[in-house]
Amino acid sequence: MMKSMSLFAAIFMFATAGAGSAQDAEAGKAVFKKCVACHQIGPDAKNKVGPVLTDVVGRAAGSIQDFKYGKSLIAAGEKGLVWSEETLAAYLENPTNYLQTYLDDPKARSSMSFKLKKEEDRLNVAAYLTTVGSDETAAEEPDTAVETRTVEEVIADQVFTEEFMSDPANFAAGKELWFAQCTHCHGFKAYPGKAPKLKPAKYKPEFVFKRIYKGFKKMPAWNDVYTIDEIRQIVVYVKGQGFAP
Ligand code: HEC
Ligand code: HEC
Repeated sequence: MMKSMSLFAAIFMFATAGAGSAQDAEAGKAVFKKCVACHQIGPDAKNKVGPVLTDVVGRAAGSIQDFKYGKSLIAAGEKGLVWSEETLAAYLENPTNYLQTYLDDPKARSSMSFKLKKEEDRLNVAAYLTTVGSDETAAEEPDTAVETRTVEEVIADQVFTEEFMSDPANFAAGKELWFAQCTHCHGFKAYPGKAPKLKPAKYKPEFVFKRIYKGFKKMPAWNDVYTIDEIRQIVVYVKGQGFAP
């Protein structure tokens, strides 16, 4: 009985997913929040951890001049990989696998350590990317609203839900940012004595946010370096399972 029920449910879900899978740029804009730690988009976008994604559709892979890509992505671009809704959606599932298949080279590697598992999210974000070009009207960066709150108000407004803390995308993005900046002073790579060894188990997420956002004594403030969302992702990494400074 259970078996036939779940088979029925599976067929039903398959059928409805097929019918309702029209790409949705609006939903894709929300998905793009997972990308903003590393990518900017819009007329004034700059390269960050990842290259700018303005006008990415129609662009050859690995072709932004002043961005330092991995070898494999450059090779794929030279072999003819051009970003389209289809190639983007496939790449985002697992960038390394995608490059290995495309280049027919099991040693190929992506330097984008991020995967978007849900197919619906991939299709939607690919649809969103087609809508953002370098002209002012189309472009609108998420989270660029001018901050009107005081430092203390921003800190007080932070809520860290279980869902947010356990989202692997936040962990991955926070990890990238941690190794980009924080290890100058913290962790095994840092010069000994520059900063205390962190004891994440002792901290509440709100405390970690406050220290990063506002700084404390010789710990610099990062509120004009990182967006609030990025700092929240660093908090997820510092508090996460597998934090390895
Ligand atoms: C943790 C950081 C990080 C996150 C999060 C991330 N990316 Fe990337 N992305 C990169 C890096 C680094 C590269 C360069 C990859 C390479 O050189 O192999 C890249 C490359 C790309 C490229 C190829 C661009 C080009 O010029 O060829 C696309 C497209 C892309 N990312 C889309 C996305 C989208 C869409 C998301 C969110 C769903 C996302 N990325 C999330 C870091 C990230
Ligand atoms: C320029 C060196 C430097 C960098 C870079 C730096 N920190 Fe710190 N950090 C410190 C110092 C010094 C302290 C100790 C401040 C004090 O309590 O006197 C500290 C304290 C902290 C604390 C509080 C520790 C405690 O037990 O009270 C946290 C959390 C923290 N840093 C996280 C980070 C994160 C995350 C980053 C990257 C965004 C970062 N730090 C980058 C120097 C640095």
